[in-house]
Amino acid sequence: LEGASRPSNLIRVMPARGSMRNNSSDVVVVGAGAIGAAVAWRCAQRGLSVITVDPEPERGAWHTAAGMLAPITELHYAETPLLRLNLDSLARYPSFAAELTEATGLPTGYLECGTVEIAWDGADLAALRDLHAFGTGLGLRSTLLTGRELRALEPALAAGLPGGMLAESDHQVDPRLLHAALLAGSASLGVRTVSATASVDVQGDRAVGVMLEDRTRLAAGTVVLAAGAWSRGIAGVPDSIAPRVRPVKGQTLRLRLAGAPRLAHVVRGRVKGVPIYVLPRTDGEYVVGASSEEVGFDRTPRAGAVYELLRDAQSLLPELGEAVLAQVCTGLRPGSPDNAPLVGPSGLDGLVLATGHFRNGILLSPVTADGVAELITTGALPEVLAPFLPTRLAKAVTA
Ligand code: GLY
Repeated sequence: LEGASRPSNLIRVMPARGSMRNNSSDVVVVGAGAIGAAVAWRCAQRGLSVITVDPEPERGAWHTAAGMLAPITELHYAETPLLRLNLDSLARYPSFAAELTEATGLPTGYLECGTVEIAWDGADLAALRDLHAFGTGLGLRSTLLTGRELRALEPALAAGLPGGMLAESDHQVDPRLLHAALLAGSASLGVRTVSATASVDVQGDRAVGVMLEDRTRLAAGTVVLAAGAWSRGIAGVPDSIAPRVRPVKGQTLRLRLAGAPRLAHVVRGRVKGVPIYVLPRTDGEYVVGASSEEVGFDRTPRAGAVYELLRDAQSLLPELGEAVLAQVCTGLRPGSPDNAPLVGPSGLDGLVLATGHFRNGILLSPVTADGVAELITTGALPEVLAPFLPTRLAKAVTA
């Protein structure tokens, strides 16, 4: 199943050996996932020359990610500083997606469909109401729904569900389409993508570029480390500033149902305390997610996770039992010690971090890319990113 999951529209990457025309650029981005590709595009739009380097540019976490843009329904109690950033990035999405489509002619799957959150039983409903009250206290807008109102909104839902919540401003994007459009937009601006492993080239007290596995040096004014879950292990970065990011495995499923989409909204649920989500695409695909597993750099599919996802998704949407199981995908979220991203100067001149986005990499791509491009061109990081400077974690350790 995993073999069936390669995107067909990936731009061919340049080989690492032999054909490098020019070994220096303003910016080298280590990592061509959603964050790295967005950073590259925004930097290139500002007239910077950019090279991205990634050993697996066709298989980042974006390939597994469902693409929920959900600051309200994915709110967590201990993550209120992140909420402002999530809302800021969500507000950038309409123009980010439109600009990308205008530049490339490619769709992104950005869809303003709203999200319903569903409780499976009374305990799930109590938890959902608590979260609604917490969000309302923070100024977020969502509406509690009775079971009857839920069914009126989404007739395909199972009968007898006790209630839920509607978040009209939580939407979705298709990360695979988004990533393909970012690569195309970048390529049209001259960004070169090298398929290789890179280490950061540090000379004296600054990063001066990267070295590829074949010992080719790519010189750069700025190196951006956007290697997702792999960011901590990139060679060359001094240990004291290496981002403390760990892999958190997530598994999603792609299902297909013939006929018109059965859902108008993204559906999130809580089934006996366990979160589940189902995203309806406009072409009959349903993305179901996601497991959350702390098992290191293991991307093998786990049968139990597939079972649990199907069980919980089907309990909310019985028709999914009839769907074709088209793909099982696994990816690694880059988890950080406080679940928030690390964006900004690393503490080593010439090295900027854009990593640790954990569950929100797709949502946070626009604000991260805009912020890093602004930092590189003006020397100033936008204020909204100030709480997410990598140095906050160094302070937390010594405090
Ligand atoms: N944001 C969805 C997930 O991490 O599963």
